[in-house]
Amino acid sequence: MYSNNYLLKKENSMKGRDIVYLLTVILMLMPLVVYSLDCPHNYLGTCSANQIDCSDCHVVHTAPGMNLTAVNGNAALCRSCHDSLGQANAKPFVDSDQAQPGVRGNSHRWDALVKNSTYGSRVPVPQGADNTDYLNLRLDRRIPADDNTWRFYCSTCHDQHNQQDNPFDPNASPTPGDSNRGFQRYHNNTNQMCRNCHWARDVQDVTSTTPGNIDPLNPNYNSHPVQVLFTGATIRTAPLDANGAAETGIRFKDNGTGDSNWTNNLILDSANQVNCMTCHWIHYTDSHSGTVDLR
Ligand code: HEC
Ligand code: HEC
Ligand code: HEC
Ligand code: HEC
Ligand code: HEC
Repeated sequence: MYSNNYLLKKENSMKGRDIVYLLTVILMLMPLVVYSLDCPHNYLGTCSANQIDCSDCHVVHTAPGMNLTAVNGNAALCRSCHDSLGQANAKPFVDSDQAQPGVRGNSHRWDALVKNSTYGSRVPVPQGADNTDYLNLRLDRRIPADDNTWRFYCSTCHDQHNQQDNPFDPNASPTPGDSNRGFQRYHNNTNQMCRNCHWARDVQDVTSTTPGNIDPLNPNYNSHPVQVLFTGATIRTAPLDANGAAETGIRFKDNGTGDSNWTNNLILDSANQVNCMTCHWIHYTDSHSGTVDLR
């Protein structure tokens, strides 16, 4: 949330006046919303060196992007910093990173049609309440109609303003608002976002033919179960890492002796279940167990 000092400081500059206009315009449209920017998309606090504020991403008049954003196209706006030459050069993205399974890529797509029967994806449905305190409107609000024209984009999955929602990453801080929580649009600690879009793969029992366990789009197909506890007679006590050593620690996020690569670990979700991100990651994932991925 904004402190008074921040507003006073900003009011002394042109940027400050812009922010007041922005807040005025947006507040007229969306009353009752309280604004915040969390680290590392922040100006003050522990990441003060980044000096990022509203006007780095929004302009009020003749804005080229939707939602009064400064660059046309959501991914282009993100990549104006998330680029090898940009301020976020530690986390760069280029178009050819986008996955085409079997062909190329090391990242989930960010510009495809959201309805896709091959990948079991639908227009996301409402999930939880809007978090109006923190401007975190739900995932489904980013895709306004259930037809075949809507694409998803970086901000479908990310709320670049705040770090309230829980990420899957077992090494992330558990405290809402802290840095390094991946600016999630909605909680994803049990892969809620993955399973919302990829509903056809959200199955629990491959031996059952009851609705919810068979693929609703391709009745001849089935998927590996998710949301299942990692216990049982036919299951190891711990997943083996690519080097053959048993993984250790809470959610098996830690390595056995002599292994410094945790980005190839099979990690359970926050409820100790096998879930999508036990086997998949989302960016900087080269599908090679021998390399340490960037995250
Ligand atoms: C890192 C870039 C970035 C910064 C910094 C930023 N915004 Fe945004 N903001 C966006 C993007 C991108 C969208 C559009 C999201 C979408 O289309 O789904 C947006 C959308 C919004 C919306 C529309 C509601 C919503 O959630 O989509 C409001 C209101 C808003 N921003 C206010 C602010 C305010 C006030 C600040 C400063 C406190 C700020 N923004 C800082 C990128 C940013
Ligand atoms: C389909 C959903 C989705 C899309 C689209 C998406 N992201 Fe992500 N992103 C995630 C998730 C999930 C995480 C991991 C959070 C965690 O650590 O658990 C993540 C993590 C990140 C991270 C932190 C580094 C990492 O790999 O953990 C950055 C930076 C990032 N995303 C930026 C972007 C940008 C920029 C775009 C668009 C060019 C984008 N994301 C598109 C879901 C998405
Ligand atoms: C004004 C510059 C700027 C813009 C524009 C920007 N980012 Fe960032 N972002 C940063 C910086 C700086 C970091 C910290 C990178 C690092 O780890 O050194 C960061 C980090 C992140 C992270 C990782 C956060 C974490 O928890 O550590 C995510 C996720 C992210 N950005 C998403 C986005 C998305 C999505 C957009 C577009 C809507 C976007 N960013 C636009 C500057 C920017
Ligand atoms: C906003 C909806 C949405 C969310 C959220 C989402 N996906 Fe996807 N995903 C899709 C769509 C649509 C495709 C097909 C993209 C295309 O046309 O290539 C896809 C493709 C994929 C693919 C194939 C590789 C690729 O990028 O084309 C994998 C694997 C995948 N998703 C896993 C995940 C996981 C894991 C999560 C959660 C971290 C997730 N998805 C979250 C919609 C989504
Ligand atoms: C037990 C491990 C595991 C789990 C759990 C898992 N997947 Fe997969 N997934 C895989 C493997 C392995 C592939 C096939 C990759 C290939 O074709 O080489 C795959 C393929 C996919 C594809 C198609 C991409 C392609 O290569 O054609 C999508 C989309 C996908 N998974 C999404 C999900 C989602 C969403 C979840 C959670 C609901 C999930 N997966 C859970 C291991 C898993």
